[in-house]
Amino acid sequence: MSDIVCLLPGDGIGPEVTTAAREVIDASGADIEWVVLPAGATALEFCGSILPARTIAAIEGHGVALKGPISTPVGKGHASVNVQLRKKLNLFAAVRPVRTVDGIKTRFDNVDLIIIRENTEGLYSGIENEIVEGVVQSLKIATSKACRRIARFAFEYAVARGRKKVTVFHKANILKMSDGLFLKCVRKEYEQFADRIAYDELIIDNGCMQLVRDPSKFDVLLLENLYGDIISDLAAGLVGGLGVVPGANMGRTCAVFEAVHGSAPDIARKGIANPLACIMSGVMMLNYMGKTEQAKRIRNAYDSVLSAGRPEDLTPDIGGNGTTQSFTQAIIKAMK
Ligand code: NAI
Repeated sequence: MSDIVCLLPGDGIGPEVTTAAREVIDASGADIEWVVLPAGATALEFCGSILPARTIAAIEGHGVALKGPISTPVGKGHASVNVQLRKKLNLFAAVRPVRTVDGIKTRFDNVDLIIIRENTEGLYSGIENEIVEGVVQSLKIATSKACRRIARFAFEYAVARGRKKVTVFHKANILKMSDGLFLKCVRKEYEQFADRIAYDELIIDNGCMQLVRDPSKFDVLLLENLYGDIISDLAAGLVGGLGVVPGANMGRTCAVFEAVHGSAPDIARKGIANPLACIMSGVMMLNYMGKTEQAKRIRNAYDSVLSAGRPEDLTPDIGGNGTTQSFTQAIIKAMK
């Protein structure tokens, strides 16, 4: 019997890259039945809501989704669909593996990081108000429950994958209470893992400098919400950009897999979006579902396409002159 996966095409380049990922996953023999669901600007136009209740209910019911990016207008309009989705489904951990990709030339050839981001609170709580005209405040929320939960998740995830060290980036020298609580909770959880993995802490500004100088010094990075968001993009830049970094939003009962990149309105509908990050997110999803053979098949296929480096196969962001479709078809061909 096929497994059911919810597919949220999303906005901008979302439909292009999720279609590519679906084609590749289907060609791998993963035997998936896709349930396509609305979210984002298209959902608002056709269903009157940016995040329809049936989309949430379906993900809750089926437990796994592959999602395209969703646009969030800056400084006005609706609350972010991504933030709502993470809160409603309690997807408290964002996991983003950032690795050097064969065939993509960058300054470093030895990057192998896992970024784990707290996904439900911090400044992303979205609690903002104007106190008097011209004065606004945004609240940064930290609870010991969420801090300990993400810390435990990070240590368990790292240990299960044989990783050597977890590093927290923080700003507890200034944000003594919120980041201070985060650190206190991580240290407390670490007591249970101290015999299996190393742990250290860095003030985030110093951490950024060290990360861009020598990423090989780091292994698993654990961050609160906003820092995790920013560091994910910074780290993507170390391995070739946003087109090559996958991600997962994980909770206890469901998981939503999506690339780190956004809806890229500047290149939407031009047919040149790099589908790799979404395909890689699909590989993470297949592993999560226990379909490890199919995941490996896809990974080997994109590795071989990247190593061959034929410009006509690859999208412009990674030095090619091909299209989303040429890249997708090259990967499918490499699986045969
Ligand atoms: P973005 O990630 O969409 O684009 C940044 C730059 O990277 C652009 O130049 C874009 O063309 C390029 N890029 C991104 N993905 C690419 C791909 N697959 N292939 C080739 N080039 C790619 O970030 P931006 O411009 O800050 O955000 C645009 C919209 O996306 C905003 O509305 C934002 O809120 C939303 N967004 C949604 C996310 C999600 O749904 N998970 C995550 C990040 C942003």
